[in-house]
Amino acid sequence: MAQITPPSEVEQLRRRIAELEQALDSRRWGRRLDPDSRPEAPADAADPDAPVDPDADTPALWPEDEQQALADAFHRLWYDRRDRTWTDTHFLGAQLLKLPFDLWVYQELLWRIRPTVFVETGTFMGGSALYFASLFDLIGEGRVVSVDIEHAGPVPEHPRVDYLIGSSVAEDTLDQVRARIGPDDTVMVLLDSDHSADHVLAELEAYHGFVTPGSYLIVEDSNINGHPVLSSFGPGPMEALEAFFPGRDDFEHDPWCERYMMSFAAKGFWRRK
Ligand SMILES: C[S@@+](CC[C@H](N)C(=O)[O-])C[C@H]1O[C@@H](n2cnc3c(N)ncnc32)[C@H](O)[C@@H]1O
Repeated sequence: MAQITPPSEVEQLRRRIAELEQALDSRRWGRRLDPDSRPEAPADAADPDAPVDPDADTPALWPEDEQQALADAFHRLWYDRRDRTWTDTHFLGAQLLKLPFDLWVYQELLWRIRPTVFVETGTFMGGSALYFASLFDLIGEGRVVSVDIEHAGPVPEHPRVDYLIGSSVAEDTLDQVRARIGPDDTVMVLLDSDHSADHVLAELEAYHGFVTPGSYLIVEDSNINGHPVLSSFGPGPMEALEAFFPGRDDFEHDPWCERYMMSFAAKGFWRRK
């Protein structure tokens, strides 16, 4: 299943990264190198003895049109090394299939939006449910409703987590989710179950109405089918997003949630207006 990055692309990236590193060195001459072992600075280098501003950003060194390509290359590497990355990630001992950058963004969203009910489709081993529930412990309120057709193993028990067994789009399951939401709840929804486009589209139809104004509907694994990983997958969550959201005025995309430049929920964070 892993994508093989063509050697020419690897070589091109290697050269470009070396050029950028060199440019960075010339900017940070004074800070990075011991004065006694400093090689001769390039003619256009900044004054090597000038104090370095630790807050200075270096955007000019990372050309705008190349930044996403470099981030995407790292995204593919991280995804393809799954044995040591996303299939070997744990929270308090429970496995979860998440990108740590995304987990941080979820933490920020939970603190800012304060959902009282977090609905997740796709429990797997319960690691993500445990993560959200533990954040709710710290915040002081919030419950998780986690739906799966079958758990991948024993799931962690937590007083804030309610596990439901059934297809996420079955009427009976939707009734059970609905029964767990009160009129005063703030609801956030994360779709992370069957990643085929048809299923995600059916979930979007079924779950978007649960999301309360100001809160978020999030679709995971929209990075597959070449966005930018696993190009062999076929129509998946991204294609469902593209079928569902255009023309709607009740949700707006929030690119801020992808500011770390790689996310498993690519173009997948939608705020209800
Ligand atoms: C990607 S895993 C979920 C990962 C989990 N949220 C995490 O972060 O660790 C996908 C899960 O969706 C479940 N699933 C597949 N089809 C489903 C369906 N129709 N309804 C509900 N869950 C489904 C699978 O059993 C699997 O456990």
